[in-house]
Amino acid sequence: MTGVTQLDLRLAPMAGVTNAPFRLIARECGAGLLTSEEIDAKALVEDNAKTRALALHLPEEKPLAMQLLGADPDVLAEAARRLEADGADRIDLNMGCPVAKIVAKGQGAALMRDPLGTAMIFRTMRKAIQVPFTIKIRGGWDDRTLNAVEIARIAESEGVDGITVHPRTRSQQFTGQAPWDVIRTVVDAVRIPVVGNGDVASHDDARAMTEATGCAAVMIGRAALGRPWIFAGSDVAREDRARIIRRHVQLIEDLLPARLALTQVAKHLAWYSTGLPGAARMRPALFHARDAEEALSIFWSVW
Ligand SMILES: Cc1cc2nc3c(=O)[nH]c(=O)nc-3n(C[C@H](O)[C@H](O)[C@H](O)COP(=O)(O)O)c2cc1C
Repeated sequence: MTGVTQLDLRLAPMAGVTNAPFRLIARECGAGLLTSEEIDAKALVEDNAKTRALALHLPEEKPLAMQLLGADPDVLAEAARRLEADGADRIDLNMGCPVAKIVAKGQGAALMRDPLGTAMIFRTMRKAIQVPFTIKIRGGWDDRTLNAVEIARIAESEGVDGITVHPRTRSQQFTGQAPWDVIRTVVDAVRIPVVGNGDVASHDDARAMTEATGCAAVMIGRAALGRPWIFAGSDVAREDRARIIRRHVQLIEDLLPARLALTQVAKHLAWYSTGLPGAARMRPALFHARDAEEALSIFWSVW
């Protein structure tokens, strides 16, 4: 060995993006544990058809965490039970979603503001399932309430098995550099594994985050959009990237309902075209394509 430590790189959950096809592609490129996009616990328990489709996953994705969004402990526990019965290897609780209509319901990042209520959620969910139960938190709600450490300690004492930290506060949204020192303070405060997340765009960044924070693994979100080969340890040749793109489009067509598939194809091809000459001019046509085949031929024209 050359002393280079093996990095545990994971795909971050992203609503509208990290569905089964994209997760599978990330895995094939080398991603470790995968996580579903956020799944509304109440809609799942009510057997909503669209939510059921969102929860679709494949045996090849294992190990796979399914992420829940909610605020009612009993509903979250029931949703967790169902996902476990359906084969989830872990259940993750979303404590970071900043969307106004979500936090207005006390869900996502709003849980950071309610340590007592959150403790009850942890306890109820932990009791409901056998598989590991993890949470994904922010640095806090805003700069005056940086309470990631408080939440992490409560989580540990309630039997939560791991914590992912995206250190921005809810009010920071995506502005500024993610303050990695917050990840370090959580790592130092608990004994359960802490996964670092935020602004990692390369293996060098992931290594730097690991060294700076002592995190057990690194989660990559936006930098994987149009670049799932970021998970591979080495450069990926152009023809291999083309093969990955073709396979991704095929998986979308095979696995997603028709009403979603074409938008997903266009969206991902737009990301895959980032930085290519002519990409900006090509994109509107991509979103007007009548089918995946047409979208692909528009895409290859700038590839
Ligand atoms: C389009 C989009 C959707 C997201 N959806 C979720 C989600 O469903 N659940 C979640 O915990 N985080 C979600 N996030 C946050 C990411 O998981 C991650 O914490 C954030 O993007 C910071 O990591 P990055 O700098 O590597 O992108 C989302 C982010 C983006 C850009």
